[in-house]
Amino acid sequence: MFPLSTAQLPGRRSATFYTDVVNGLRADHKYLSSKYFYDENGDKLFQQIMACPEYYPTRCELEIMQHQSGKMARLFMEESSDFDLVELGPGDATKSWFLLRELQKDHASFTYYPIDISSNVIGWLEDKLPVTLPGIRLQGLNGEYLEQLHQVNTFSNKRKIVLFMGANIGNMTVHQATQFCRQLHEQMHPGDLLMIGFDLKKYPGTILAAYNDKQGITRAFNLNLLTRINRELGADFDVEQFEHYPVYDPGTGSCKSYLISRIQQEVHIGDNQFSFAENEVIHMEISQKYTLMETESMAAQAGFEPVDTFFDSKRWFADVLWRRLA
Ligand SMILES: C[S@@+](CC[C@H](N)C(=O)[O-])C[C@H]1O[C@@H](n2cnc3c(N)ncnc32)[C@H](O)[C@@H]1O
Repeated sequence: MFPLSTAQLPGRRSATFYTDVVNGLRADHKYLSSKYFYDENGDKLFQQIMACPEYYPTRCELEIMQHQSGKMARLFMEESSDFDLVELGPGDATKSWFLLRELQKDHASFTYYPIDISSNVIGWLEDKLPVTLPGIRLQGLNGEYLEQLHQVNTFSNKRKIVLFMGANIGNMTVHQATQFCRQLHEQMHPGDLLMIGFDLKKYPGTILAAYNDKQGITRAFNLNLLTRINRELGADFDVEQFEHYPVYDPGTGSCKSYLISRIQQEVHIGDNQFSFAENEVIHMEISQKYTLMETESMAAQAGFEPVDTFFDSKRWFADVLWRRLA
């Protein structure tokens, strides 16, 4: 679904990518940031992950959006039908599309601001959404969530409704997610709405299988970041010498993906050399799972009050709607 040309990073962003990668690989416990998964190939692989039989979060949230977007739209329009709709990390907006359509049907007067770190995603949305949702007012922003939300606030002082769906929030630790919501609170105004998709705690085997699909697409998605580092930063990772290794801890609710070095090896990025011991790991991604009580506690800590919760029929996933408190 992302047929655009390779996303080239402009200079400043490329420098940040380099610094983040080098700092992550120099750390005592090596890590890479999952936000860099999404180059052109990463976008395509994520599309394939969403279609995997094991990857339930997309199907659960799709069911929510297909059946409950009408109610969401009415809640959004209760206070006024004139607002800015900001979506953080929309990907291809497969799910938010249903909500956009309902808002159009209900004659809401809104501008849609999708914010995504992948320029490929933004280009795709700007091309495709006006075709399937004629008349939509849309302005895409390519960059980091909070930086770009700040930009939107400089464009307009209308009421904001912010969407953060697809369990993107799960790619932060609980502490980081709470801090992030506090930062959203700072950029929002009393009465503004925030809708967040949380993947809920459930049978651990179901969760682990979602990050270890039989076709090996999640494996390819993780390894693709090494290929991207080779291509864009001139590194020499031997991708075949790393193994994808996801784990889920039902106690904490954190699902983590690692790449394990199969052998003792050296990797270079420019003048930097990184040594990997056999079986040394790179932490790639966290996908944090929550109980509903934990999400409510996060709302309270970040200055929001829960307004409503939308579940799928299995109650595996929840889109929670919060109002920003004064
Ligand atoms: C897991 S995908 C989910 C997409 C969509 N929300 C869904 O539910 O299908 C995450 C999306 O967020 C974007 N993203 C990840 N980290 C980001 C960041 N720090 N700032 C902006 N966009 C980010 C990625 O490029 C990608 O499109």
